[in-house]
Amino acid sequence: MSTLLTIDLPLPKFGSGKVRETFDVGDQLLMVATDRLSAFDVIMREGIPHKGEVLTRLSAFWFGQTREIIPNHLISIDPAAFPAAVAAQRGELAGRTMLVHKAQRIDFECVVRGYLAGSGWKDYRATGAVSGVPLPSGLRLADRLPEPIFTPATKAATGHDENCTLDVMENAIGIDLAQSLRDASLALYQFAADLAIDRGIIIADTKFEFGLLDGQVIVIDELLTPDSSRFWAAGEYAPGRSPASFDKQFVRDWLETQTWDKSPPPPTLPPEVIAGTAQRYQEAYEWLTGDTFTPMGH
Ligand SMILES: Nc1ncnc2c1ncn2[C@@H]1O[C@H](COP(=O)(O)OP(=O)(O)OP(=O)(O)O)[C@@H](O)[C@H]1O
Ligand SMILES: [Mg+2]
Repeated sequence: MSTLLTIDLPLPKFGSGKVRETFDVGDQLLMVATDRLSAFDVIMREGIPHKGEVLTRLSAFWFGQTREIIPNHLISIDPAAFPAAVAAQRGELAGRTMLVHKAQRIDFECVVRGYLAGSGWKDYRATGAVSGVPLPSGLRLADRLPEPIFTPATKAATGHDENCTLDVMENAIGIDLAQSLRDASLALYQFAADLAIDRGIIIADTKFEFGLLDGQVIVIDELLTPDSSRFWAAGEYAPGRSPASFDKQFVRDWLETQTWDKSPPPPTLPPEVIAGTAQRYQEAYEWLTGDTFTPMGH
Protein backbone atom coordinates (compact mmCIF):
# COMPACT_ATOMS: atom_id res chain seq x y z
CA MET A 1 0.00 0.00 0.00
CA SER A 2 1.43 3.36 -0.93
CA THR A 3 1.59 6.39 1.28
CA LEU A 4 2.37 9.96 0.34
CA LEU A 5 4.74 11.86 2.61
CA THR A 6 5.28 14.94 0.50
CA ILE A 7 4.40 16.35 -2.88
CA ASP A 8 5.79 18.83 -5.36
CA LEU A 9 3.51 20.69 -7.75
CA PRO A 10 4.29 23.29 -10.42
CA LEU A 11 2.60 25.98 -8.32
CA PRO A 12 4.05 28.46 -5.81
CA LYS A 13 4.19 27.02 -2.28
CA PHE A 14 1.92 28.77 0.24
CA GLY A 15 3.01 26.77 3.24
CA SER A 16 4.12 23.43 4.57
CA GLY A 17 2.47 22.31 7.81
CA LYS A 18 2.75 19.17 9.87
CA VAL A 19 0.26 17.39 7.63
CA ARG A 20 -0.55 19.58 4.61
CA GLU A 21 1.35 21.01 1.67
CA THR A 22 -0.47 24.10 0.49
CA PHE A 23 -0.06 25.81 -2.85
CA ASP A 24 -0.97 29.31 -3.92
CA VAL A 25 -3.53 29.74 -6.69
CA GLY A 26 -4.14 33.50 -6.53
CA ASP A 27 -7.15 34.09 -4.31
CA GLN A 28 -7.49 30.33 -3.85
CA LEU A 29 -5.35 27.64 -2.25
CA LEU A 30 -4.77 24.03 -3.22
CA MET A 31 -4.39 22.11 0.05
CA VAL A 32 -2.93 18.62 -0.18
CA ALA A 33 -3.27 16.42 2.92
CA THR A 34 -0.33 14.02 2.99
CA ASP A 35 -0.28 10.75 4.97
CA ARG A 36 2.01 12.29 7.58
CA LEU A 37 1.03 11.90 11.22
CA SER A 38 2.19 14.13 14.03
CA ALA A 39 2.02 13.14 17.68
CA PHE A 40 3.15 15.35 20.55
CA ASP A 41 3.87 17.91 17.77
CA VAL A 42 6.53 15.67 16.19
CA ILE A 43 6.03 14.31 12.68
CA MET A 44 6.45 10.52 12.50
CA ARG A 45 8.75 9.20 9.80
CA GLU A 46 6.23 6.67 8.55
CA GLY A 47 3.03 7.59 6.73
CA ILE A 48 -0.42 6.20 7.59
CA PRO A 49 -2.01 4.68 4.46
CA HIS A 50 -4.97 6.74 3.18
CA LYS A 51 -4.85 9.12 6.14
CA GLY A 52 -4.70 12.25 3.95
CA GLU A 53 -7.68 11.10 1.95
CA VAL A 54 -9.69 10.30 5.08
CA LEU A 55 -9.00 13.79 6.44
CA THR A 56 -9.93 15.56 3.22
CA ARG A 57 -13.05 13.55 2.43
CA LEU A 58 -14.31 13.65 6.01
CA SER A 59 -13.76 17.43 6.09
CA ALA A 60 -15.66 17.73 2.79
CA PHE A 61 -18.52 15.72 4.31
CA TRP A 62 -18.73 18.08 7.29
CA PHE A 63 -18.33 21.22 5.17
CA GLY A 64 -21.40 20.07 3.23
CA GLN A 65 -23.36 19.24 6.39
CA THR A 66 -22.62 22.52 8.18
CA ARG A 67 -22.66 25.19 5.51
CA GLU A 68 -26.09 26.41 6.61
CA ILE A 69 -24.72 26.98 10.13
CA ILE A 70 -21.66 28.88 8.93
CA PRO A 71 -20.03 29.18 5.48
CA ASN A 72 -16.62 27.62 4.85
CA HIS A 73 -13.63 27.81 2.53
CA LEU A 74 -14.28 24.68 0.44
CA ILE A 75 -14.66 25.15 -3.30
CA SER A 76 -14.16 21.58 -4.51
CA ILE A 77 -12.38 18.28 -3.95
CA ASP A 78 -13.03 17.25 -7.58
CA PRO A 79 -9.67 17.09 -9.41
CA ALA A 80 -11.40 18.36 -12.56
CA ALA A 81 -11.81 21.71 -10.76
CA PHE A 82 -8.08 22.00 -9.98
CA PRO A 83 -5.76 24.31 -11.97
CA ALA A 84 -4.60 23.03 -15.37
CA ALA A 85 -0.99 23.19 -14.15
CA VAL A 86 -1.58 20.09 -11.99
CA ALA A 87 -3.57 18.10 -14.57
CA ALA A 88 -0.82 15.48 -14.89
CA GLN A 89 -0.91 14.84 -11.12
CA ARG A 90 -4.68 14.56 -10.71
CA GLY A 91 -4.50 10.86 -9.83
CA GLU A 92 -2.08 11.49 -6.98
CA LEU A 93 -4.12 14.45 -5.72
CA ALA A 94 -7.55 12.84 -5.97
CA GLY A 95 -9.36 12.49 -2.66
CA ARG A 96 -6.66 14.14 -0.55
CA THR A 97 -6.83 17.62 -2.04
CA MET A 98 -9.15 20.58 -1.55
CA LEU A 99 -9.40 23.75 -3.62
CA VAL A 100 -10.38 26.47 -1.14
CA HIS A 101 -10.84 30.21 -0.83
CA LYS A 102 -7.74 31.84 0.62
CA ALA A 103 -8.81 33.58 3.81
CA GLN A 104 -7.19 35.88 6.30
CA ARG A 105 -6.59 33.40 9.10
CA ILE A 106 -7.66 34.29 12.64
CA ASP A 107 -4.77 33.10 14.77
CA PHE A 108 -6.72 31.22 17.43
CA GLU A 109 -7.67 27.58 17.69
CA CYS A 110 -11.33 27.47 18.62
CA VAL A 111 -11.62 24.39 20.83
CA VAL A 112 -14.93 23.03 22.09
CA ARG A 113 -15.01 20.34 24.76
CA GLY A 114 -18.05 18.26 25.61
CA TYR A 115 -16.10 15.78 27.73
CA LEU A 116 -13.05 15.94 29.95
CA ALA A 117 -9.88 14.60 28.30
CA GLY A 118 -6.38 15.50 27.19
CA SER A 119 -5.10 18.93 28.22
CA GLY A 120 -8.58 19.77 29.54
CA TRP A 121 -8.37 16.91 32.04
CA LYS A 122 -4.85 18.00 33.08
CA ASP A 123 -5.97 21.60 33.52
CA TYR A 124 -9.04 20.54 35.53
CA ARG A 125 -6.98 18.35 37.85
CA ALA A 126 -4.57 21.20 38.51
CA THR A 127 -7.04 24.11 38.78
CA GLY A 128 -10.63 22.82 38.91
CA ALA A 129 -11.25 24.75 35.69
CA VAL A 130 -10.40 24.41 32.00
CA SER A 131 -8.89 27.50 30.36
CA GLY A 132 -10.50 29.60 33.06
CA VAL A 133 -13.97 28.04 32.70
CA PRO A 134 -14.92 26.80 36.20
CA LEU A 135 -16.37 23.27 36.40
CA PRO A 136 -18.11 21.28 39.14
CA SER A 137 -15.81 19.35 41.48
CA GLY A 138 -15.51 15.57 41.44
CA LEU A 139 -15.47 15.06 37.66
CA ARG A 140 -13.64 11.96 36.39
CA LEU A 141 -11.48 11.43 33.30
CA ALA A 142 -13.77 11.25 30.23
CA ASP A 143 -16.79 12.59 32.15
CA ARG A 144 -19.37 14.48 30.14
CA LEU A 145 -19.41 18.17 31.00
CA PRO A 146 -22.66 19.80 32.19
CA GLU A 147 -22.60 21.66 28.87
CA PRO A 148 -20.02 22.03 26.08
CA ILE A 149 -17.40 24.68 26.82
CA PHE A 150 -15.32 26.93 24.58
CA THR A 151 -11.61 26.80 25.44
CA PRO A 152 -9.56 28.65 22.81
CA ALA A 153 -5.81 28.39 22.28
CA THR A 154 -3.36 30.75 20.66
CA LYS A 155 -1.79 29.50 17.42
CA ALA A 156 1.90 29.66 18.24
CA ALA A 157 4.10 30.22 15.16
CA THR A 158 6.61 27.76 16.61
CA GLY A 159 6.09 24.95 19.06
CA HIS A 160 2.99 24.14 21.05
CA ASP A 161 -0.29 26.03 20.92
CA GLU A 162 -1.25 27.41 24.30
CA ASN A 163 -4.66 27.36 25.96
CA CYS A 164 -5.98 30.80 26.78
CA THR A 165 -9.11 32.36 28.23
CA LEU A 166 -11.89 34.00 26.22
CA ASP A 167 -10.66 37.30 27.73
CA VAL A 168 -7.28 36.94 26.03
CA MET A 169 -9.02 36.29 22.73
CA GLU A 170 -11.38 39.25 23.18
CA ASN A 171 -8.44 41.55 23.85
CA ALA A 172 -6.58 40.31 20.78
CA ILE A 173 -9.34 40.35 18.15
CA GLY A 174 -12.17 42.32 19.72
CA ILE A 175 -15.17 41.27 21.80
CA ASP A 176 -17.62 41.01 18.90
CA LEU A 177 -15.44 38.78 16.73
CA ALA A 178 -14.35 36.62 19.68
CA GLN A 179 -17.93 36.07 20.79
CA SER A 180 -19.12 35.26 17.29
CA LEU A 181 -16.34 32.67 16.96
CA ARG A 182 -17.35 31.18 20.29
CA ASP A 183 -21.01 31.02 19.24
CA ALA A 184 -20.15 29.52 15.85
CA SER A 185 -17.85 26.95 17.47
CA LEU A 186 -20.47 25.86 19.99
CA ALA A 187 -23.14 25.64 17.26
CA LEU A 188 -20.88 23.55 15.00
CA TYR A 189 -19.96 21.25 17.87
CA GLN A 190 -23.57 20.74 18.94
CA PHE A 191 -24.69 19.93 15.41
CA ALA A 192 -21.82 17.51 14.82
CA ALA A 193 -22.04 15.84 18.23
CA ASP A 194 -25.75 15.16 17.68
CA LEU A 195 -25.12 13.67 14.23
CA ALA A 196 -22.16 11.60 15.45
CA ILE A 197 -23.87 10.10 18.48
CA ASP A 198 -26.59 8.65 16.25
CA ARG A 199 -23.77 6.92 14.36
CA GLY A 200 -22.06 5.53 17.44
CA ILE A 201 -19.36 8.16 17.94
CA ILE A 202 -18.88 10.59 20.80
CA ILE A 203 -17.07 13.77 19.79
CA ALA A 204 -15.26 14.43 23.05
CA ASP A 205 -13.65 17.62 21.82
CA THR A 206 -12.68 19.31 18.59
CA LYS A 207 -10.82 22.28 17.20
CA PHE A 208 -12.01 24.73 14.57
CA GLU A 209 -10.11 27.37 12.65
CA PHE A 210 -11.74 30.45 11.19
CA GLY A 211 -10.76 33.10 8.70
CA LEU A 212 -12.16 36.26 7.18
CA LEU A 213 -13.22 36.35 3.54
CA ASP A 214 -14.59 39.66 2.22
CA GLY A 215 -15.30 40.68 5.81
CA GLN A 216 -17.26 37.51 6.56
CA VAL A 217 -16.27 34.82 9.08
CA ILE A 218 -15.82 31.41 7.46
CA VAL A 219 -14.57 28.02 8.65
CA ILE A 220 -11.15 27.14 7.18
CA ASP A 221 -8.62 24.30 7.47
CA GLU A 222 -9.97 20.81 8.24
CA LEU A 223 -13.28 20.12 9.94
CA LEU A 224 -14.19 17.47 12.53
CA THR A 225 -11.53 14.95 11.54
CA PRO A 226 -9.63 12.47 13.75
CA ASP A 227 -6.65 14.87 13.59
CA SER A 228 -8.65 17.81 14.91
CA SER A 229 -10.98 15.93 17.27
CA ARG A 230 -11.24 13.19 19.86
CA PHE A 231 -13.66 10.55 18.59
CA TRP A 232 -14.74 7.85 21.05
CA ALA A 233 -16.71 4.65 20.43
CA ALA A 234 -20.00 5.39 22.20
CA GLY A 235 -20.67 1.70 22.80
CA GLU A 236 -17.48 1.29 24.84
CA TYR A 237 -17.65 4.58 26.67
CA ALA A 238 -17.32 4.59 30.45
CA PRO A 239 -16.21 7.57 32.51
CA GLY A 240 -13.12 7.08 34.68
CA ARG A 241 -10.98 5.49 31.97
CA SER A 242 -9.56 6.45 28.61
CA PRO A 243 -12.19 5.35 26.02
CA ALA A 244 -11.54 3.39 22.80
CA SER A 245 -10.85 6.06 20.21
CA PHE A 246 -10.74 6.56 16.44
CA ASP A 247 -7.95 9.07 16.46
CA LYS A 248 -4.24 9.24 17.06
CA GLN A 249 -4.63 8.28 20.72
CA PHE A 250 -3.70 4.76 19.59
CA VAL A 251 -0.31 6.04 18.39
CA ARG A 252 0.15 8.27 21.45
CA ASP A 253 -0.53 5.29 23.73
CA TRP A 254 2.11 3.22 21.91
CA LEU A 255 4.61 6.10 21.97
CA GLU A 256 4.12 6.41 25.75
CA THR A 257 5.44 2.84 26.08
CA GLN A 258 8.70 3.87 24.37
CA THR A 259 11.75 5.55 25.82
CA TRP A 260 11.54 8.82 23.91
CA ASP A 261 11.89 12.46 24.97
CA LYS A 262 9.24 13.68 22.48
CA SER A 263 11.71 15.56 20.33
CA PRO A 264 12.82 14.43 16.84
CA PRO A 265 13.72 11.85 15.74
CA PRO A 266 10.66 9.87 16.86
CA PRO A 267 10.69 6.09 17.36
CA THR A 268 10.05 3.92 14.29
CA LEU A 269 6.36 2.98 14.22
CA PRO A 270 5.91 -0.81 13.97
CA PRO A 271 3.69 -2.15 11.14
CA GLU A 272 0.87 -3.11 13.51
CA VAL A 273 0.70 0.42 14.94
CA ILE A 274 0.62 1.87 11.40
CA ALA A 275 -2.09 -0.58 10.30
CA GLY A 276 -4.12 -0.10 13.49
CA THR A 277 -4.03 3.66 13.06
CA ALA A 278 -5.02 3.47 9.38
CA GLN A 279 -7.94 1.24 10.34
CA ARG A 280 -9.15 3.62 13.05
CA TYR A 281 -9.04 6.62 10.69
CA GLN A 282 -11.02 4.74 8.05
CA GLU A 283 -13.57 3.57 10.63
CA ALA A 284 -14.11 7.15 11.76
CA TYR A 285 -14.87 8.09 8.15
CA GLU A 286 -17.21 5.14 7.63
CA TRP A 287 -19.15 5.50 10.88
CA LEU A 288 -19.62 9.24 10.54
CA THR A 289 -20.51 9.39 6.83
CA GLY A 290 -22.30 6.05 6.67
CA ASP A 291 -20.31 5.24 3.49
CA THR A 292 -17.72 2.56 2.80
CA PHE A 293 -14.29 4.10 2.37
CA THR A 294 -13.13 3.36 -1.17
CA PRO A 295 -9.96 5.29 -2.03
CA MET A 296 -10.28 7.72 -4.95
CA GLY A 297 -6.58 8.44 -5.13
CA HIS A 298 -3.77 6.15 -6.23
N1 LIG B 1 -8.59 28.88 3.68
C1 LIG B 1 -7.42 29.09 4.30
N2 LIG B 1 -6.77 30.28 4.14
C2 LIG B 1 -5.57 30.50 4.74
N3 LIG B 1 -4.91 29.60 5.51
C3 LIG B 1 -5.51 28.41 5.71
C4 LIG B 1 -6.78 28.09 5.11
N4 LIG B 1 -7.12 26.84 5.50
C5 LIG B 1 -6.12 26.39 6.29
N5 LIG B 1 -5.14 27.32 6.43
C6 LIG B 1 -3.87 27.14 7.13
O1 LIG B 1 -3.10 26.20 6.37
C7 LIG B 1 -2.30 25.35 7.20
C8 LIG B 1 -2.64 23.87 6.95
O2 LIG B 1 -1.54 23.03 7.12
P1 LIG B 1 -1.40 21.96 8.30
O3 LIG B 1 -2.74 21.54 8.79
O4 LIG B 1 -0.44 20.93 7.86
O5 LIG B 1 -0.74 22.94 9.33
P2 LIG B 1 -0.40 22.68 10.85
O6 LIG B 1 0.77 21.85 11.03
O7 LIG B 1 -1.67 22.37 11.56
O8 LIG B 1 0.11 24.13 11.14
P3 LIG B 1 -0.41 25.29 11.95
O9 LIG B 1 0.28 25.15 13.25
O10 LIG B 1 -0.01 26.50 11.13
O11 LIG B 1 -1.91 25.12 12.04
C9 LIG B 1 -2.62 25.78 8.63
O12 LIG B 1 -1.63 26.71 9.05
C10 LIG B 1 -3.97 26.50 8.50
O13 LIG B 1 -4.18 27.45 9.50
MG1 LIG C 1 -3.49 21.59 10.90
